[in-house]
Amino acid sequence: MEHVEEIERTLISEEQLRIRIKELARQISNDFSGETVILVGLLKGSVVFLSDLAREITVNCHMDFMSVTSYGNDTESSGEVRFLKDLDEDINGKNVIIVEDIIDTGYTLREVVKVLGARSPKNIRICTLLNKVSRRLVNIPIHYNGFDVPDEFVIGFGLDYAQKYRNLKYIGVLKITEK
Ligand code: IMP
Ligand code: MG
Repeated sequence: MEHVEEIERTLISEEQLRIRIKELARQISNDFSGETVILVGLLKGSVVFLSDLAREITVNCHMDFMSVTSYGNDTESSGEVRFLKDLDEDINGKNVIIVEDIIDTGYTLREVVKVLGARSPKNIRICTLLNKVSRRLVNIPIHYNGFDVPDEFVIGFGLDYAQKYRNLKYIGVLKITEK
């Protein structure tokens, strides 16, 4: 069987992303005025979003990264989360903002919040670029939400399909057909 991938359409343009990320950064900067925040990026999908977000944030800001996975090269979550890389920084007493590319079932963030919450940070907030609301299986409090997206497989701006398309400047919908 032949496998054909095609970018069906643009869902969120470069310009829309730029404007919304600025707004999220302004909210974060207002909420943490005079304080320091640690942006915790979940590798690898959040890297593009985090780097744009961080440059619009005006309060003191650290960056740290964690690697967790619930996906193989498939488009369906397994529900099982593996931790591959931990943070470098101690987050005890700190303002932590977890930065994610997309929240789908919510399994990944539920586990990450559980693990980081046990380290007694001052507070933990969640900032996601995309929110696939209709797919949620566990309740996750989202403090900063870029865009709600429909239940379609999206790629670009950090998001991949089998490690491809992360470098696109926009968010697109990927159509996969088996022929
Ligand atoms: P969750 O644990 O089901 O919430 O899955 C979250 C992770 O699944 C995200 O960090 C992404 O890596 C991946 N993911 C979910 N939906 C998509 C999508 O439409 N495109 C690319 N990756 C996705
Ligand atoms: Mg991810």
